[in-house]
Amino acid sequence: MSNEEHEPSRTKVPMPVATLSDPHLGDAAKHPSRAEAIIALILVVAIVLMAGFGAAYTQNWDPWIIGGTLGAGMFLLGFGLTAWGKYLMPQGPFVEERHLLASTPEERDSMAAALVERSTVVVKRRKLLGGLFAVGSGIFGIVALFPLLRSLGPLPGTSLDVTDWRKGTLLVDSNGRTVDKGTLVVGGIMTVYPHGLQNNTVGQSVDQTVLIRVQDSDLVTAEGRETWAPAGYVAYSKVCTHLGCPVGLYEQQLELLVCPCHQSMFNVRNGAVPQFGPAPRPLPQLPLYFDSNGTLRAQAGYDQAVGPGFYERTTTKENGT
Ligand code: FES
Repeated sequence: MSNEEHEPSRTKVPMPVATLSDPHLGDAAKHPSRAEAIIALILVVAIVLMAGFGAAYTQNWDPWIIGGTLGAGMFLLGFGLTAWGKYLMPQGPFVEERHLLASTPEERDSMAAALVERSTVVVKRRKLLGGLFAVGSGIFGIVALFPLLRSLGPLPGTSLDVTDWRKGTLLVDSNGRTVDKGTLVVGGIMTVYPHGLQNNTVGQSVDQTVLIRVQDSDLVTAEGRETWAPAGYVAYSKVCTHLGCPVGLYEQQLELLVCPCHQSMFNVRNGAVPQFGPAPRPLPQLPLYFDSNGTLRAQAGYDQAVGPGFYERTTTKENGT
């Protein structure tokens, strides 16, 4: 018994040959030439804006020009592409006669050939728009590389690991006044800087340090820090270990330093270990001593990088011990 005897009879539906005059492949727009001209104009403007963005970025023009040219260029590029699809692509309606779901090999071959033929016809018809879109996309791809080339800058090296605090550095306030035992009462707080680097453009933002007088006798905040907080004066980096905000609020009753950005709280008695909030590490502590004149100085710089974590960070000690 041959296979043909088992096959149900089927209606052969011939696939129509694709031609430019096929109404199914017609443009949606009533005036395709006009639509093509308008879309071409939009793509040309997009190209100009993209080129303008490249120039604005390299020349460091105003941010609103950089953002405006990039935004408008991308918008018009997308708008032109969308309009092309909406008004100049075949809109159908496409009707397929019902027949048995399984296709014969001939029908499959016929379908594959028709698809190839149609796509060739449709794409060939809009060479101008295809070219303009390719140029616009190409320019966008090139200018997208500009930030990579211009903004990476030199490597930071070890600059993120160090501050200006050194052995013997005097602690001063923003007016350059030094600190002695009577400067703060218990519960008092102030911001201090390395002497000579306060209130000018030479000092770094990572130098800012909060000085708190927690008690009137020596304070030990962690093992190995027995001499770091003489007469109850304890100093911590003011740069939050979460995202770098200045940790400038002090809750005196609870003895907590509070970061105003995301409410991380650091306990000043136990080495500023975070007690609440997203900060992942304690604030680094600056070791202090009173010199022979009774003036407060740093025993050394911070023993670890201050501020948020960064990829090359090598000091990861949780308690600085
Ligand atoms: S920056 Fe301090 S908690 Fe987020």
